[in-house]
Amino acid sequence: MAKTKTGSGKPLAIETLMADHRKVEALFEKYQKAKENEDESRRDIAETVCAQLTVHATIEEEIFYPWLREFLEEDDMEMVEEAQVEHNGARDLIAQIQDTSDVDAVYDAKVKVLSEYIKHHVKEEEHEIFPKVEAEKEDLDELGEQMEARRAELKEMEMPADAKSPPPRKPANSGTGARKGAAR
Ligand SMILES: [Fe+2]
Ligand SMILES: [Fe+2]
Repeated sequence: MAKTKTGSGKPLAIETLMADHRKVEALFEKYQKAKENEDESRRDIAETVCAQLTVHATIEEEIFYPWLREFLEEDDMEMVEEAQVEHNGARDLIAQIQDTSDVDAVYDAKVKVLSEYIKHHVKEEEHEIFPKVEAEKEDLDELGEQMEARRAELKEMEMPADAKSPPPRKPANSGTGARKGAAR
């Protein structure tokens, strides 16, 4: 089977999003261990998770989900909107975690609920959404490049972790999505 330049065989957009999912899962595990050791520095781990999830959600919402809305059929729209609603819920929890001053049982509980929430969301993306679009390699490679560029931009601007909305995105030359089927 032909390999992509990235080596996994998956289109770049899918590969980059899945790599983020694995990173965040590893961080949640690290948090769990730090909690068991009553390590106070676990706040740093949680802050990193919150920042990474915020960037991840932003690139999905700005680049991947709009493409999904164009590419997928009407019947699949609820799935995309459900994912968006889950992002909103995750952002609320992230804000709560960031607003909590003490690292205590309440803090641990919030991180735990966020981890369960994200686990559920990631499962839906990887098992329900990605398989529906994975064959669109050309579009998804291009989207992957746009996402990486946007990620770099967000990092450069050092988006405040508690920002409700990300800094504005440069207008994209949106060449993708034009090949969508008939729906709508
Ligand atoms: Fe995701
Ligand atoms: Fe997501």
